[in-house]
This record gives sequence, C-alpha cells and structure tokens, in this order.
Amino acid sequence: MSKTPRKFEIFTDSTEEAGARSGQRLDIAIVGHVDHGKSTLVGRLLHDTGTLPDGKVEAIKKMCERRGMAFEWAFVMDAFQAERDQAITIDAAHIWFSTKKRDYVIVDAPGHREFVKNMVSGAASCSAALLVIDAGEGVREQSRRHAYFLHLLGLSRIVIAVNKMDAVDFDAARFAAVEADMRDYLTELGITPNHVVPVSARDGDNIDTRSKKSPWYDGPTVTEALDAIQLPQADSEAALRMPVQDVYHFDDRRIIAGRIESGSLKIGDELLFSPSNKCAHLQRIESWPDSEGRTSAEAGQSVGLIMDEQLFIECGEVISHVAKPPLESNVFRGHLFWLGREPLSTGKQYKLKLGTLEAPVEVQSIDRVIDIDDLAMTEAASGEASIERNGVGEVVLRSRAMLALDEFGTNQRSGRFVLVDGYDIAGGGIISMRGYPDQRQLITGKSSNLTAVDYGISHAARRQRNGHKGGVLWFTGLSGSGKTTIALEAEKQLFQKGYQVYVLDGDNVRGGLNANLSFSPEDRAENIRRVGEVAALFADAGFIVLTAFISPYRSDRVRAREVAERHGKGAFHEVYVKASLETCEKRDPKGLYRKARAGDIAEFTGISAPYEAPEEQELIIDTNDLSEEQSVAALISHIDESFTTDDN
Ligand code: ADX
Repeated sequence: MSKTPRKFEIFTDSTEEAGARSGQRLDIAIVGHVDHGKSTLVGRLLHDTGTLPDGKVEAIKKMCERRGMAFEWAFVMDAFQAERDQAITIDAAHIWFSTKKRDYVIVDAPGHREFVKNMVSGAASCSAALLVIDAGEGVREQSRRHAYFLHLLGLSRIVIAVNKMDAVDFDAARFAAVEADMRDYLTELGITPNHVVPVSARDGDNIDTRSKKSPWYDGPTVTEALDAIQLPQADSEAALRMPVQDVYHFDDRRIIAGRIESGSLKIGDELLFSPSNKCAHLQRIESWPDSEGRTSAEAGQSVGLIMDEQLFIECGEVISHVAKPPLESNVFRGHLFWLGREPLSTGKQYKLKLGTLEAPVEVQSIDRVIDIDDLAMTEAASGEASIERNGVGEVVLRSRAMLALDEFGTNQRSGRFVLVDGYDIAGGGIISMRGYPDQRQLITGKSSNLTAVDYGISHAARRQRNGHKGGVLWFTGLSGSGKTTIALEAEKQLFQKGYQVYVLDGDNVRGGLNANLSFSPEDRAENIRRVGEVAALFADAGFIVLTAFISPYRSDRVRAREVAERHGKGAFHEVYVKASLETCEKRDPKGLYRKARAGDIAEFTGISAPYEAPEEQELIIDTNDLSEEQSVAALISHIDESFTTDDN
C-alpha cells in the first residue's frame, strides 16, 4: 500500500493535496446501476488512461487465476473498495485518474448520504457527472432516478456512457433509441447532456480509444467527452456578488462592508444594490491593513466600499454590476437536504439565510420527496408531504419580501441557502427557478421625467351614470377549469342587467396585445402584468371587467390587485375557478392536456409548469361540483352585492 503512487490514492476532500491541485482538476460524480457496469467502467478508465500503477492489473489477474475466477475490470474497483475500508474515517471514496489534459477525481455518488449532504452544503465540489446506462436494458426507472439525482444536486455537465454495446452487437439503432429516451427525460429536467457515448467498458471500446466496432459513431470517446467539459468559472471570473454585511457610519460617510463572494470590482464601477435596486458609483475601497492606492478588489476579499452618493442600504442586500444582476423573486425552488429534528412540512415558517440576508420564509409546497437509499421519488400531493431528518426533496419557499438570488447553475456561491429553525440550522440546499420567473423586469421602472395628470371625471360621476362601481373580477384557475365559459356567459347576463361589462380572455389577448409573449415563466408574468394594468384602466373607466387568465403565480396576482386598488380599495376581487387537474384533464376542451402529456407542449400549467392556487380569494367557484348555470349565478350575485351597494 505504501508504495502506491499518489494518483492511485484515496483521500478526503480536506487533504491538502485536494486543494493544491484543484486548479486543473475536475471532480466528477459517477452514477449508474452496479449491474450496468459502473465499476467496470471505472476500472477501464483507470487502466486505459495509464493511471493504474504498473503490475496492478497483472496482480489482480493472477489472483483471479489462483481462485479460478474469470478476470473482471470491476475487481480493480473492488480492490479500491477494500483499500477504502481499511482507511480510517473517510466520507466517500475518491479515485484519481488523469488524461493528457487534466486530473479527475471520480466520486462514487449515490447511496452516500454524506455525499449528498456535502454537495448541497458546498463541502464537496463535483461539477460534472458520468452516467452509466446499460444498452440492453435501456432507460428504465433506475436510470431515470439517477438522472433526477444529478438534477437535484444541480449537476448539469453530464456525459452519458451507454455501456455493454458489445451485448447488442454495436447496433446503431439500439444506441440511437437509448440516447433519444435519455435525452427526452433529461430535457424534462432542463438538462442537456454534453455527450452520449456508446461504449463497451469490458472491452475498452470508446473509453479512451476509439472503437472500430462503432463506425457509425463519430462523437468523442468517454475521456474526450470529459476533457471537453469546461471547468466551472473561477469565483473571481464570475459575475460580481458581494452581500452587504454591515453599513458603518463615519462622519457623514457610509462604509458598506462585506466579502466579495464572486467577481471583482474597481473604483468608478457603477454598482447595483438588490433588491432595493439602488445604484451608485464606487468612489473608494477601504480594506485592512492598508487601503492606500487600492483601486480594485476580487472574490475572497473583505472590503469596505464608499459610494459617490449616500444610499440608504441595509444589511443583506447584494451588490452586483448593473449588467449582470442577481434575480429578484419572492419565491424559489429549493433542492434541499433536511437536518431538522422536526420534519419539514408545508406551511411551516423558517428563517432563510441567503448570503448575509436573514428573512422569514414559508414552505409553500413540497413537490418531491426522495428516498436517498434507493433514490425512489414520491411526487407529493399538495399539502400532505413532509421531509424527515436526513431526507432530501424539492420544495417551494416563499418570502414576504423580495429576495435577490441566483440559481445554483449560474453561481455556485450565491445559489445556496440555509434554513434555520429556532437557533438550529435545519436544512440547506441549492436554488432553482425552474417554472418560476425572474421578477426584476416587472418591478423595475424604466421611464423618468413623467408627470401624472388628474382626470376630470370622478369615479362618483361614472358610478352614478352606470349604476355600479367599476372593478376587476380576476379569475384564476387551470386551463379547462371554466374561466372563459363562466366569464362569457356572465358578461351576457350582466350586460342585459345594464352593467358596463367587458371580458379580457387569455387566448384572445395573447392574439393581440400580448402576441409577442410565450409561456415561459417571465412571459407569463409579463402577460399578467399587462393585463393587470389594462383591467385596472377598464375599472377606472367605470367598467366591471372579468379577466380569464390562468395567472399561475401568486406574486403576479398580488401585483394586479395592487394596481387595481390604486383607484380604491375593494376594486379587485380574486375569483378562484377551482377544478382539479384530473377534472380539467378529463374535460380537455382544446385537446391541450393530451398534447402536453405526449410531450408536444412544453411548460404546460399543471403538468410541467406550476400553478399556485390562491390562498385568500374573494370568491371560489368550484366547478368540480357546480354546473355552468350555478357558477354564473354565484358570480353575478357576488357582483351585485359588491359593486352596486354603497358601503364598499
Ligand atoms: S397564463 O399562464 O399566462 O396566465 P393565459 O391564460 O394567458 O396563461 O393563456 C392560457 C391559454 O393558453 C390556455 O387556456 C391554453 O388555451 C393556451 N396555452 C397554450 N400553451 C399553454 C401552456 N404551455 N400552458 C398553459 N396554457 C397554454
């Protein structure tokens, strides 16, 4: 053992060596079912890249002969395993190998609770993965679980080895089918694999050497594919992120103190503070022990900044450059590792720590719970799930205040969070915005030099003429829940009753005013922002306006309410047109659910895009139970009551 060369060693992340070589090193997690040849592939990688010490394979071959067993490459891994077991306290087995380009550390990933914890907390630094699939087996449940696991850990640089191609006679069609299946599944998770390589680990085909048995394949070998992966950006090259730790007052100067987590800054830079969205230029950098002549600073350094304008800035804000700001949202998805004594459950409140910010958050939903032992996944029905201690899951967290944050995929430093329960760290995770929009554009005004005018006709005058107040009946609900049907019939009846009434409908407005918007999270939010403004104008003009939009995000509906209520409290009524996904899918009036299930429509609400049901609405129309007639009647009596009487 003691003669084993360095490259053949097993070590923990804390060894000096690991740190010293990290500059040109790529840490990769290897995942795959044991029967799919994961160990064989590692054995082969070590051998074919010349990483094994001389005589190692011969020694294992001899041992096999002595015991009357056929040699297998997996024994090389087993030898490691044995060595690892002799080691003292090691979290996970790390195995070195080198190509001409750089060093790699392979971490045998799943099954290791510690590994998940370390990845989520940032203690481990795998930034790529090698996923092994059996060509004969194809993409079954197990491979899906492995792929999901990578997604959960925020690993998006992925090379897929379709192994045991020898067992399917290097059949190009078989490979293409497995590749297509895997790509489809990964696309659902928002991952594009870097390369998919047909290999036979046992025979060394396309591992480090191009195989003659797959002339139809012109992509890279496994090692070429790994070498082609770009190392993650060094912290100093990433976008500037400096969480504000404190603001000190000296004389009339304010010094904004903190540690630069990523990127760099220099005197004269225009800096943006989020979420307050204030900007100023950097005038001076104070640092210890010597500030004189200091013109710039970068990731890892703690500094004090003096700006050219006195801004009122609070601890917890994030400093960036104007061109590369963090996202702004009051809701995000967390891929979370739970350590709390009490299970995490929907509706509970915790303290969120994000950089230097501490803010209360509520668990809005638990969307998936993962059993870490076999990676089995439970899609959680809303409200019922919980995540036990040492459990892993995908949750949606909501805060009252706007947060400045980054996705883990964009910035591995600012893309992490911690949850605190009382005084204890109860969980940690990485941030994903999948299905949720960046709200920065929605709340950042770009016009200046404006002077609003007062209109000459009062609300009271309009009301007197119309016999009712103006107002917005904001319908929300899944596609197929009945929003449009109810709105159109109610409009007819209200018109006959003498109301000034108009319907704004999603499918119609998206054909005109919002024809330039898609169904991406950002565009949906913009769709609702515009409709919210238009509806408020109609209400201001004295109309009763019925809006029929899915409007899946709570934050957007809150903003639409604020806009309408600028003209008077009580002008906005949220109407939850409630129908279960099952009911809507059964109705499927436009055949869209069928298409979405077949994968022909991406980001379809309720299937592959989120829907956040209202919590505090003025009216619920439950179309699971009510007929169209009953639904319309309920709405009209609500409107009669709320908009024609004097006291509201
Ligand atoms: S919203 O999410 O932005 O509020 P909106 O109400 O305007 O949606 O439009 C929803 C209508 O667009 C649906 O009723 C359906 O007819 C159509 N549609 C097309 N693609 C999608 C999609 N990916 N998700 C939801 N609805 C879609």
